[in-house]
Amino acid sequence: VKLVRTFVIMATLIAAGTAAFAQSAALAVTSTAPTVDGVVNAGEYGWSTDLKGLALYASRTADSLFVAVVGDTKGWVAFGLGSQRMNGATIFMGFVKADGTVEFKPQEGRGRAHFDVGAGVTATVVAHKMTEADGKTTLEVELKAAPYIAAGAAGLDAIWAMGSADSFLPVHVSRGSLSIPLAK
Ligand code: HEM
Repeated sequence: VKLVRTFVIMATLIAAGTAAFAQSAALAVTSTAPTVDGVVNAGEYGWSTDLKGLALYASRTADSLFVAVVGDTKGWVAFGLGSQRMNGATIFMGFVKADGTVEFKPQEGRGRAHFDVGAGVTATVVAHKMTEADGKTTLEVELKAAPYIAAGAAGLDAIWAMGSADSFLPVHVSRGSLSIPLAK
């Protein structure tokens, strides 16, 4: 029993160490811009993390912040910036319908709901593209960096979520929040 316990503890420590290593790299400004085509290729983004059924990617150039989410769903996917709760987050949400039509909306989180944004937030979206393939839905967005990343900030508060329907209304099947570490 003692041997088994030691093994379990060691395996847990190794797993924790691996996870810490994978998350330790911070999002840095580079000159390499991802292509906003609705497909995330290996090595395209400078920073990424695997969440519960959803992968979150980010890259930063001098002027732009690129964020992509790839969720295990045929329904909606979303990420939000500026808060670790729905309340106060600027949310980017969308889905691809069965006929291939894309619906995408920037939203602002208030309480446990989200609402349409004004022209100011819409103007921060430089480009966006969505695709759905093999049971996964991808949302790629290029944003103006300055409104989202304050000078000298050490982290960027973010939320993510996905739902099973092609609709902006039904609640998530999976959601979470994090701080994306920013390189100095
Ligand atoms: C589609 C409509 C949505 C509804 C009706 C909704 C509703 C809710 C409710 C009732 C909760 C509290 C229960 C729980 O923890 O699950 C919650 C929490 C949460 N939701 Fe949503 N949500 C929606 C969209 C979103 C979107 C688009 C995101 C991310 C971009 C998101 C991210 C979160 C997060 C991070 C939490 C936990 C922190 C918090 O309470 O704010 N939600 N949501």
